[in-house]
Amino acid sequence: MNLISNRIRGMQDILLHEGESWLNVCRIMEKRASLYGFKFSRTPALEYTNLFERSSGDSSDIVNKEMYTFKDKSGRSISLRPEGTAGIMRAVLEEGISNFTLPLKLMYNCSCYRYEKPQSGRYREFFQFGLEIFGCDNVSAEAELIKVAKDILSDLEIKNVILQINSIGCKNCRKNYIDNLKKYFENHKSELCKSCMDKLERNPLRILDCKEKSCIEIVNKAPIITDYLCEKCSQNFAEIQKKLDFNEIKYEVNSKIVRGLDYYTGIVFEFLNNIDGTNLAICGGGRYDDLAETLGGPKIFAAGLGFGIERVMLAIKHNNSDFKGNLPQIYIASTDESSKHFSEKLCNILRKINVYAEYDLLNRSLKSQMKFANKIGAKYVIVLGDDEIKSGKANLRNMETGEETPISILQDFEKEFLNATKN
Ligand code: HAM
Repeated sequence: MNLISNRIRGMQDILLHEGESWLNVCRIMEKRASLYGFKFSRTPALEYTNLFERSSGDSSDIVNKEMYTFKDKSGRSISLRPEGTAGIMRAVLEEGISNFTLPLKLMYNCSCYRYEKPQSGRYREFFQFGLEIFGCDNVSAEAELIKVAKDILSDLEIKNVILQINSIGCKNCRKNYIDNLKKYFENHKSELCKSCMDKLERNPLRILDCKEKSCIEIVNKAPIITDYLCEKCSQNFAEIQKKLDFNEIKYEVNSKIVRGLDYYTGIVFEFLNNIDGTNLAICGGGRYDDLAETLGGPKIFAAGLGFGIERVMLAIKHNNSDFKGNLPQIYIASTDESSKHFSEKLCNILRKINVYAEYDLLNRSLKSQMKFANKIGAKYVIVLGDDEIKSGKANLRNMETGEETPISILQDFEKEFLNATKN
């Protein structure tokens, strides 16, 4: 084939079975989040670049190296969103926080773009299912977020997920910590990788995240943030642990979690799942009480999280969850033109009562129709021909057991169908 174009590197096509599985995952997430009171929201994929520069931080890799940024036709700098939180916060600020009843709980499912090196679980276009709580100044917000994330993971039957928590302090205690961290790393400057040398100047916190073996050894002996927390931050950190214990949620404290975005303050967390020997974060979040002010708005207490949907899908595959997708309840086959019309009519009736029903669209032979019904996993099949239409009766065949039940295809068809398929 000589296609004029192919898929852009780092982007994915999701088709058929995978698409069904995707839809199922999103539905489960949205359903669970609505039970916690989150309301669906949507913001544009494009924002003015300064929104992300100010929110994610211009020392972050996301802003520095990974953003898809370009000039629009009027010469304004525009970027594809690298994450969902900044856009949601911008939207809330534009609407005016006082126009909402607090706490405001929002959920979204959005595409995000980061020019990262593509690998399994890391894409240049990926989707985030995000949850944000605005207006809650205490750890009940973080607890609520962790609880809903745990419930989602259990709804999706994803096992062996580790929850790690940390506090990166507020801007006051963090400053003291960063000064000390900088001094420590300066003493080990010659042992740091090139990228960390760079981070030493811009944001030494980011060195804690480095995956280079030589840096990991130095990081392991570095001062830890929890030793530098102010009274309020350490109280909050103790509180969240109490809350998690109360809710019987297992967690580990990992003082190296700093998150890749600059807007966090206080408690941060990640849910990790081991996929092919690598611990991948399938969900991450935390508190970001200063973001609204950074963007020029009033003080708004805020905390949130984001699931990476592709990583969730990988975790499901890895857990061998046998998701079969949405299989048709019935395929109505036909032997000639007039029975084909009749099968269309019967499908219309069943679809109206929310039964997933299929019939032949391609004028295929009965044999090919039966093959197709098998392939798509139809649970029941009816074959319509002259005899069936004349008598008004047809056999409903259970494709698993081979059992046949005669039902009326004229009067009370839907009732007879529902009765015969009750079990
Ligand atoms: P984040 O940790 O950068 O946080 O991203 C959230 C999740 O998105 C990650 O845990 C991961 O599962 C997924 N993810 C990130 N980058 C990629 C990628 N290149 N390919 C595939 N999946 C990826 C945020 O973005 C915050 N907005 C989360 C948040 C919401 N914090 C507060 N509210």
